Amino acid sequence: MQNYEERKCMQLKKIYLDNAATTQVDERVLEEMQRVFLENYGNASSLHSFGQNALEEMEKSREKIARILGAKPKEIYFTSGGTESNNAAIKGIMNLNEKNKLIVSSIEHPSIIKTAEYLKEKGKKVFFAQVNEKGIIKIDELEKQIDSNTSLISVMHSNNEIGSIQPIKEIAEMCETKKVLFHSDIVQSTAKIKIDLNKLNLNLASVSGHKFYGPKGVGLLFVKEGTKIEPLIHGGGQEKKIRSGTENIPGIVGLAKALELTEENREQEMNRQEKLRDKLIKGLNEIKKSKLNGHETKRLANNVNFSFFGVEGEALITLLDFEGIQASTGSACSSKNLKISHVLEAIGLDHIWAHGSLRLSLGKNNTEKEIDYTLEKIPLVVEKLRKMSSVKI
Ligand SMILES: Cc1ncc(COP(=O)(O)O)c(C=O)c1O
Repeated sequence: MQNYEERKCMQLKKIYLDNAATTQVDERVLEEMQRVFLENYGNASSLHSFGQNALEEMEKSREKIARILGAKPKEIYFTSGGTESNNAAIKGIMNLNEKNKLIVSSIEHPSIIKTAEYLKEKGKKVFFAQVNEKGIIKIDELEKQIDSNTSLISVMHSNNEIGSIQPIKEIAEMCETKKVLFHSDIVQSTAKIKIDLNKLNLNLASVSGHKFYGPKGVGLLFVKEGTKIEPLIHGGGQEKKIRSGTENIPGIVGLAKALELTEENREQEMNRQEKLRDKLIKGLNEIKKSKLNGHETKRLANNVNFSFFGVEGEALITLLDFEGIQASTGSACSSKNLKISHVLEAIGLDHIWAHGSLRLSLGKNNTEKEIDYTLEKIPLVVEKLRKMSSVKI
């Protein structure tokens, strides 16, 4: 069997530019998790010392995470990831509250959009708030939709496809004034942008571990003290009855370690990635009939989303894969679906442009050499596909 280093080297021969979809687990995270798997494998609900050790691991992790995110430990509830946290937040509020109206932005992750659609089918009033052509929420229009029947607003901190960063603080202030609860999906922003939940004034927030070199299948829901939600999962009453099920202690420890490690040099690393991002944007702008999707400056430091007129996104991904470059078109979660991404549709992108979209998302392992190689390959691949295309450029 290969060891971790050997496996990592082999994988690095590929240029992985899909870090918004998921990231490679950090070796130090894996070591911590392995220790817990092998040594502290007790059930945190058990009264014996193995159980108590597991409980201690979990509570230390909760404290660490709370400190980094500016929350109180009791405001952190562990879940199986971003999708569950988003479901738990939206359903947990809407099912409990007498007020019937939910407002979500039109560019949310499917775990919010589909949940909102489900609730609409069940009789709730749902409004999808529009964004402008750069993918930034139209606050004035959002505000006009808030009425005495509005229970919850959910707007993501940053978008997973086009990287646009939303004016969350402003929306939170508006929600506080109007006495409406506010949830934000901070899955893509965590560990990239400084998050201080206390100062952000959110009622609820969702986090997922695998977006920042932590394990898959673990995340958390922040619920501000005093905000009441109904549990999504019933059972043994773990997590103060908000989320039943035996706690994933190795995953939770891994989540905390990953957050701690990324926080250690977050600013420096994000500056580095931003430079690589800008180099990519500058280089791709030189391709004729290409355009950057999303905001030029209010965007995640690791996100590049481009459209190439007359190119089929899936073909682009396949040819780039042959060149060793891993990227995505539209949202990674739904890239098998030929439908145009709802995010690109929401920013008003023409179908022909939306079909030719490419997302490159940087991570801590990407080097300038890889970016140079990518910038060499993409124009060649785009040209090749355009020659085969029936669309006139
Ligand atoms: C913005 C956003 N929210 C939620 C999720 C879902 O997270 P998870 O994969 O942990 O369920 C993702 C993952 O793609 C995401 O990018």
